[in-house]
Amino acid sequence: MKSYWQNYIAGDWVDGGAGRIDVENPGTGKVCAEHALADAGDVDRAVGAARDFADANIWTDMRPMARGRIIQDMGRWFEAHIEEIATVLCTEQGKAMWEARGEVGNAAKYFDYFGAQAALIEGTSIPLGAGYVDFTAREPYGVSAQIIPWNFPLEIASRSIACGFATGNAVIVKTSELTPCASEFFVRAAKDCGVPKGALSVFTGLGPDAGAARARHPGVDQIVFTGSVATGSAIAAAAANNIVPCVLELGGKSAAVVHEDADLESFEGDIRRGIFVNSGQICSALSRVVVHENVHDELVERIADVAMGVKMSIGAEATEPLGAMGPMISAGQRDRAVGMVAEAERQGARVVAGGRAGNLPGFFMEPTVLVDVKADMAIAQEEVFGPVVSVLKYRDEAEAVEIANGTQYGLVAGVFTRDLDRATQTARALKAGQVFVNEWFAGGVETPFGGYGKSGYGREKGQEALLNYVQTKNIAIRVR
Ligand code: NAI
Ligand code: MG
Repeated sequence: MKSYWQNYIAGDWVDGGAGRIDVENPGTGKVCAEHALADAGDVDRAVGAARDFADANIWTDMRPMARGRIIQDMGRWFEAHIEEIATVLCTEQGKAMWEARGEVGNAAKYFDYFGAQAALIEGTSIPLGAGYVDFTAREPYGVSAQIIPWNFPLEIASRSIACGFATGNAVIVKTSELTPCASEFFVRAAKDCGVPKGALSVFTGLGPDAGAARARHPGVDQIVFTGSVATGSAIAAAAANNIVPCVLELGGKSAAVVHEDADLESFEGDIRRGIFVNSGQICSALSRVVVHENVHDELVERIADVAMGVKMSIGAEATEPLGAMGPMISAGQRDRAVGMVAEAERQGARVVAGGRAGNLPGFFMEPTVLVDVKADMAIAQEEVFGPVVSVLKYRDEAEAVEIANGTQYGLVAGVFTRDLDRATQTARALKAGQVFVNEWFAGGVETPFGGYGKSGYGREKGQEALLNYVQTKNIAIRVR
């Protein structure tokens, strides 16, 4: 991995107005690179270039199929460079190499999927009787500003870059200061695939500095943010001052309701993927299991076995699919998660697997299972964002739904049962933007994703996501 990475602003590779930032490899705790750090002046230049690009109608004068082909080419570019990109991603982010490869593949899918839809963003024709012709057009906002977190730096940025381009917007991306390097590949892909100059700027900067400067910048027309509730709220407040719409994806405390008749053996795979992939640093993680009392003990035994079977390993060494789990992103996030588990124990929860920091040099935490968790404990209410699953017991279905719905969040939820009627009834009762039945993370780039409650608003993925990036113009014509 090269030792110094620059920002890409207004069509040029540039140093940062705020100097440089060290990037750490979470698997070793050691610095792996330096990255240019943007300041408010850099933000201003990026927004200015995007504004000029949008005002010149460069994307919108192009035939949408041609624009879509460029976007799809970016996906193919990612597929062709999968090893190179995944290596950088797993070095700076810590995730296992098999996960990093998966993330690059998923990033490619977003370009493929949304590129294919560039020509499908159609208006309607509205009958007004004799003397009028009326139609609507879906026009881009112009400048889409995207603030990206560190847990899936490529997947999350690719879904909004692809959507932004498909709808004809200029896009400026502020990457997380913890994982800025791999996003350079978006720029390289864009240049190689013929994205016109000015359509994309990618830079990193500190949240409260460059991030905030971007959120309040009057030249931004639309904001897409994924991250914490507190930061999302600050961004939405800044956007409100400029009357600018936001898409907010703010995490969750998602519950799997496991009914008495569920296939408990196959649920082991859901736990493995749902909470121990990416060390549990997933907004839609399976962080609570709400299980019927009659199968509670058997399920706990199975879940604990899964947790104890997951090895921890430095990202680059973990190449086997569903093999080892990598570290967390930082010592701070790891210590916070370990502290939340200790606090839950003080309140009466019991650790049946893991619970401590990993006995390795990087920022590892053991895969952790907590039982005897009560719905009002902090561990059952707040996002841990680590490899920690809480098990809660229920007696009847009403209680299961009450527990599952009993947090401020509502991103995703799950129902596990062999009975389709029961699955449908529970799914209808759950307050979440997406409900998985019998497979956690069922769905994909094609299915709308976003939260109820404090999990945010707006939907990403799926055709619905495109609507965040366009405004409707109605053209009403008097014909004489
Ligand atoms: P954060 O929400 O503060 O950071 C996410 C992004 O927002 C980063 O790019 C950061 O630079 C930027 N940012 C921070 N402050 C900003 C501001 N005032 N204005 C504009 N941009 C700003 O999240 P953080 O502090 O890294 O993690 C804290 C918690 O947030 C985690 O423990 C987790 O619970 C949650 N989180 C949820 C994510 C999700 O996927 N929904 C992703 C990352 C964090
Ligand atoms: Mg923060």
